This record gives sequence, C-alpha cells and structure tokens, in this order.
Amino acid sequence: MNYTSIHDIDNISAWIEEAKTLKANPLKHIQLGKNKVLGLLFFNSSLRTRLSTQKAALNLGMNPIVMNVSGDAWGIEFGDGTVMNGTTAEHIKEAAAVVSQYCDIIAVRAFPSLIDKEKDESEHVLKSFAKYASVPIVNMESATGHPLQGLTDAITISEHAKVAKPKVVLSWAPHIKALPHAVGNSFVQAMQKMDVEFVIANPKGYNLNPEITGDTPIYHNQEEAFKDADFVYTKNWSSYEDYGKVVNTDPNWMITKEKLGNAKFMHCLPVRRNVVVEDAVLDTDSSLVIEQANNRTYAAQLVLKKILENA
Ligand code: CP
Repeated sequence: MNYTSIHDIDNISAWIEEAKTLKANPLKHIQLGKNKVLGLLFFNSSLRTRLSTQKAALNLGMNPIVMNVSGDAWGIEFGDGTVMNGTTAEHIKEAAAVVSQYCDIIAVRAFPSLIDKEKDESEHVLKSFAKYASVPIVNMESATGHPLQGLTDAITISEHAKVAKPKVVLSWAPHIKALPHAVGNSFVQAMQKMDVEFVIANPKGYNLNPEITGDTPIYHNQEEAFKDADFVYTKNWSSYEDYGKVVNTDPNWMITKEKLGNAKFMHCLPVRRNVVVEDAVLDTDSSLVIEQANNRTYAAQLVLKKILENA
C-alpha cells in the first residue's frame, strides 16, 4: 500500500474516526512498528511534516531516519537512458533500491518546478520512487498534492464542526512568492469526499486545475463566497492557467477578522502574517492553525499504521 494521494483514502469518515482514536491514545500501537524503519527524504524545506511524521513513527515504535536529499545526497538522475555526464551522480534506479534496503517505508517530499507544467504533473520524482523502491511510499508533499495535509484538515474540520453539514470555503490569499498548488488540490479532494457544503474563492486567473475542482463552485467575489461560512481555509497558490506565475497580489484578498465573521480560520502553515492573514485572526480563538499542526501527527500515524498493517 502506498499513500500518494487523497484518492488512496477509501472511506474518509472511517479514517477520520480512526485518527481520532489514535489521538486519544497515541501509544496504543507502540509495538506495531517495532524494529521497522521509516526513511524521510526531503528535497525541500519543512518544519511540520518533518517533525510530525517522525513523531507519528515514534508513536508506533518505528525508528525514523531523515535525509535532506537536495543538500546532502548525491544529485539524483530521474531520466531514463540519460548520459550522466552532467550534475547528477546517481540514478533513481539505484537510489530507490538502496534506500529500500535500509527502510520499511519511504516518505518523500518533492515540490514542483512551477516552470514545466507537464513535467510537474507527471509527478516524476514521487512516481520514480514508487516504481523503483521495493517498499511502500508516502507522499509528504509532491508537485500536485499534499495528502497528509488534506487528511489532517478533514480531521480538524470534523473535530470542530458544530452543524451536520458545515459550509467550508477554500480562499486564495495574496503572497509575495509563486507557491505550488499541492495543498489547495488535496484540500479540494478531501472536501469533495466529505459531507460539507464546499466552495472555492479566488481571483480571476487563479482557478485550480479544473480536473481537480470538477463541479465545486468557484467564486471570484470573496465576500459572496464567505457568506454563512463555518470554516475558511486559506492558501496562496500561483496561477495554474499561466503556470507558476504571480498574476495578482491584490491585498484586498487578505483574510481579516471582519471578513471572517464567526467562521473558523484554517491554514496549513507556514503563513506570512499581515500578507495572507492579519494578526487579529491568528491571535484569537478564530484560528485553528495550531490544532491543525497537531493533527498532522495523527494523520501521519494513521497512514503509517495502515501501511504496517497491510505489510
Ligand atoms: N504544512 C506543512 O506541510 O508544513 P511544512 O512545510 O513545514 O512541513
């Protein structure tokens, strides 16, 4: 069993309930991962994913080992048949096979280029590990998805929902840099599996991949989208149409206390204060961001538990 996408969740309600039971008793399955090794390979920076996934492994009795691949390992070649006389020194065929001998599960973080849409959408890094490794693979944020974050967000909404079918808004917000679509994509896919009223708010030119958003309503008027919202999940992403470009930095899309009203604020973190969201939101009980970060452990623990049980 691999966990590379929200589509690997067969029954999201059952997964959420199981994650809640792990949260209530995190060390209950401490024997399950005894003598098993989780390898965490990071091609990009991380705080939450790196620490919460290690914590999840420790809660299951596993031994996590971590490597910053981009800085510390040999440059990995992903092309088939490449004459390796450039900057890459080791082929993924050997790298994945070797790491598989040291680890029982391999978790990978590899962001998109935001330059070559076709290459990013091929998920060549994640898929190459899945192809050449002989152990299960976990996606710790790839070019197009962040399914550990999406599962976390589903758990958090379930914990904080006050009505049977809450209204959830995914809102784009401004940012100074071009950011990936992965968190937005996985959040959309998670909400589409849940019993929620779900809409997206983003400026023109910022629609996510229509193959992912599908029938989900998209508003270009944030105020209209936020009406009667129970949860406002905020994230910046770069343009998908004009791939990887920043085509709008309108500060009027920043999340404010006034706009939020009685809704709860969510964000995957890290977040740039007073660019994406104002202090007056983050510094009050309206914000669930710290609870979300806590739930990263139990989402990862659930995924690792399922993989260990399926081994
Ligand atoms: N939300 C999230 O994935 O955080 P990190 O990038 O710090 O891991």
